[in-house]
Amino acid sequence: MKSSPRISLNNGVHIDQLGFGLYKVPARDASDLVANALGEGYRHFDTAAMYGNEAGVGRGIGRGIDGDGTGSSGGSGEAIHGLSREDIFVTTKVWNDDQGYDNTLRAFDTSMANLGLDYVDLYLIHWPCAGRGLFRDTYRAMETLYREGKVRAIGVSNFQPAHLEELMSGAEVVPAVNQIEIHPWLQQAGLRTLHDQLGIRTEAWSPLGRGQVLEDPAIKDLSAAYGRTPAQIVIRWHLQQGNIVIPKASTPGRIRENFNVFDFEISAADMEGIAALERHHRTGSHPDNVN
Ligand SMILES: NC(=O)c1ccc[n+]([C@@H]2O[C@H](COP(=O)([O-])OP(=O)(O)OC[C@H]3O[C@@H](n4cnc5c(N)ncnc54)[C@H](OP(=O)(O)O)[C@@H]3O)[C@@H](O)[C@H]2O)c1
Repeated sequence: MKSSPRISLNNGVHIDQLGFGLYKVPARDASDLVANALGEGYRHFDTAAMYGNEAGVGRGIGRGIDGDGTGSSGGSGEAIHGLSREDIFVTTKVWNDDQGYDNTLRAFDTSMANLGLDYVDLYLIHWPCAGRGLFRDTYRAMETLYREGKVRAIGVSNFQPAHLEELMSGAEVVPAVNQIEIHPWLQQAGLRTLHDQLGIRTEAWSPLGRGQVLEDPAIKDLSAAYGRTPAQIVIRWHLQQGNIVIPKASTPGRIRENFNVFDFEISAADMEGIAALERHHRTGSHPDNVN
């Protein structure tokens, strides 16, 4: 079975660089998709309280862990055998309405109950919501959860440089990750450099530009040249950039296709060609517009 490269977060915790995203996965489908992805070799799953599918994600993970009696991939992947909780990396996120110290602790308990897990690997602030003025209190609660061993790493999502600066001026724990929109049309070079300086890993959401960048003629040309699908080209580009990358897919065929990216390399010249596709185009919201 294939396996993703693993990289270290700033506290030594390891994360599979290629994971599976679950935004807009209906709750009723989440368990089967997670079990299917486990069967293909995925070991890293990205959900959020807001996605409304944490319980299904937890059930899918349960199917992959020894002892729950199913041991089935639920799809076209290989049957899952012998996984333990430690083999699987789960990220969830605190939603905007739950920001603040006490609210975050409560929201975390709800997420844990929904997931049916004893701990979460990575807990993120979903959006800074700077207008609410609560992300520092929210992060303090996450530091408490981290100290208590309920989360293995903590981080943020959709933070701009000014948000990171404000957060880190009062934080005791450097965020392990900032999960931001990145794809060939929105490459976030400035933030990526800042992350490198601060010891924060860059995690790419909507890494396929929600499917839109797969239609880019230059990506299609590379697809033909490498004999790989457009999605495989884009995912490979993320991996070679050092991004953590979490594409979402809804069919067993795409789940498999997106994980079949570890046996080829995009040349330096072609990486430069993709760099030239930058057009500062967002497929999701700008962080300043979410409150
Ligand atoms: N932190 C945040 O604020 C935030 C925001 C957005 C997303 N995220 C995270 O990032 C993950 C990924 O982002 P995303 O779901 O927005 O978008 P994405 O992964 O960039 O793209 C998903 C879209 O691409 C299609 N697709 C996937 N594989 C394909 C393939 N091999 N060929 C053709 N089309 C393919 C999917 O179609 P089907 O589903 O029909 O297969 C879906 O329409 C999310 O699931 C979530 O975990 C986080």
